[in-house]
Amino acid sequence: MTELDELRSVRSEGDSWDIATSVGATAVMVAAARAAETACADPLVRDEFAQLLVSSAGPGWAQLASPDMDWIGDDEHGRRAHRVSRDYQAVRTHFFDEYFDAAANAGIRQMVILAAGLDSRAYRLNWPAGTTVYEIDQPKVLQYKTSTLEMAGATAKATRRTVPVDLRDDWTAALQAAGFDRSRPTAWLAEGLLPYLPGEAQNRLFEMLTALSAPASQFAVEVFNVDSTNERRRAARRARWARMQRLGLDVNVETLTYHDDAERADAAEWLTEHGWQVSTVANREEMARLGRPVPDDLADEAIVSDLLRARLGGS
Ligand SMILES: C[S@@+](CC[C@H](N)C(=O)[O-])C[C@H]1O[C@@H](n2cnc3c(N)ncnc32)[C@H](O)[C@@H]1O
Repeated sequence: MTELDELRSVRSEGDSWDIATSVGATAVMVAAARAAETACADPLVRDEFAQLLVSSAGPGWAQLASPDMDWIGDDEHGRRAHRVSRDYQAVRTHFFDEYFDAAANAGIRQMVILAAGLDSRAYRLNWPAGTTVYEIDQPKVLQYKTSTLEMAGATAKATRRTVPVDLRDDWTAALQAAGFDRSRPTAWLAEGLLPYLPGEAQNRLFEMLTALSAPASQFAVEVFNVDSTNERRRAARRARWARMQRLGLDVNVETLTYHDDAERADAAEWLTEHGWQVSTVANREEMARLGRPVPDDLADEAIVSDLLRARLGGS
């Protein structure tokens, strides 16, 4: 049996984390990609808060956020793979920024970011007056973001309400206690979340947000094709883990996610069956469209996902 044969998850029921540990560290990892993108010559997106949020988590993180990738050394393959994964993060950020922009233009003023992590959209997007952005995540993750940005004097561009709760539990009461109004249409976002939830928790999450969605609500979701049996993609995930270990960062995504993809509901099908009109774009297509195509020789190992936008109740 090779090391790759054994799939394991370190997750357990009710586990929790801060920004530096377990699933919390994945929020820093994706924010590092946004920081590096922001600092590069021709950025697709600008997240002016990412650098601060990432570097405040420690020196290894600050290096991961640097656009030059010197820390990868002479591993040319690793450098190119890292570049592609950074490109993907930029493209997904762009996709979901556009989603919120369109939702705001459609008149929606209530936004909910599920598993917000270090997402700084409440601070960086130009929200129309009267917009409220709710951010749900683990308590310590939200505390870290709020206090780091507060100390830097950053102010949100919408009313920002944090909802510190576990998304595997019933989070609806906490969201409503924070001011969420179920009679108004909502734009929901689940970016970088689903593989960190067990399949049944994903269904419960979809059920709860559908129940809270007034007509004309919208939902954007990132759906990974994890394909736990694909050895090349698994090897690539492990190579990324090993690269980051050189910076003293220990984020093994494979052990932090659930490997029930064979039994998990297909998100697009689930949403369609529950009244949502879904449109899907493959990440590779969107990356090519935005001038960040996946090179052919990395196609077998790069991330595969679908970016979904859904609308409730017709037009
Ligand atoms: C990869 S990060 C993505 C963060 C953010 N959406 C982004 O794209 O920048 C995953 C986030 O999901 C959050 N998360 C995962 N499972 C969760 C749960 N059961 N309850 C609350 N938050 C959760 C983590 O704390 C982390 O912030």
